[in-house]
Amino acid sequence: MRAMAAAAAATLLLPLLLSAMITASVAAAGEQETLIKVYWHDVVSGPDPTVVKVARAATTNASKTLFGSVMVIDDPLTEGPDLGSSRLVGRAQGTYVSAGKDVPELAMAMTFVFQGGSRYNGSSVAIMGRNEVGADVREMAVVGGTGVFRWARGYAQARTHAFNLSTGDATVEYSLFVRH
Ligand SMILES: *[C@@H]1O[C@H](CO)[C@@H](O)[C@H](O)[C@H]1NC(C)=O
Ligand SMILES: *[C@@H]1O[C@H](CO)[C@@H](O)[C@H](O)[C@H]1NC(C)=O
Ligand SMILES: *[C@@H]1O[C@H](CO)[C@@H](O)[C@H](O)[C@H]1NC(C)=O
Repeated sequence: MRAMAAAAAATLLLPLLLSAMITASVAAAGEQETLIKVYWHDVVSGPDPTVVKVARAATTNASKTLFGSVMVIDDPLTEGPDLGSSRLVGRAQGTYVSAGKDVPELAMAMTFVFQGGSRYNGSSVAIMGRNEVGADVREMAVVGGTGVFRWARGYAQARTHAFNLSTGDATVEYSLFVRH
């Protein structure tokens, strides 16, 4: 009896398994991998900052890592490293939070939305992850996307290109490896 029941269950399951496998392979076949390199500009200084601090803990000022501060960004993304002369391809909008008590580390949650200067105009990718700002290369997750990046997944690698210690202005190179 038990063997028969198991055989019957297997007969029922087999078509389901096969159809799941076919669906997966179709999705994989239509998929592409796109590499995007952009420069992200966190402008703290000057008359038109693109990053603002919106909250901090009572203890943040005393923390060497500014633990507990919350920033909101609308940072320009450009093709080359120079904000003044490079083509604008999009904006990085979202938040980052100082989330390291001992090591300067940011928890990033932002959307890269591409604009008219980009071939991905109107599409976006969502990036989340741990950004240990002192490390040469920081890896974050690409967790999704819209438009041409629907169903996106992948990863981003961030490398600091320039950091002005007196103003806090930063330019970071982001390489995105996206499957979609
Ligand atoms: C922390 O420092 C900022 C800027 O210097 C100041 O405006 C704020 O009042 C300080 N906060 C606390 C809780 O000390
Ligand atoms: C980018 O997309 C917007 C909104 O869809 C559209 O109005 C605009 O014309 C597009 N720009 C280019 C350069 O394609
Ligand atoms: C940092 O910013 C200040 C103020 O804008 C500027 O005078 C200085 O040259 C900058 N330093 C670097 C290394 O770019």
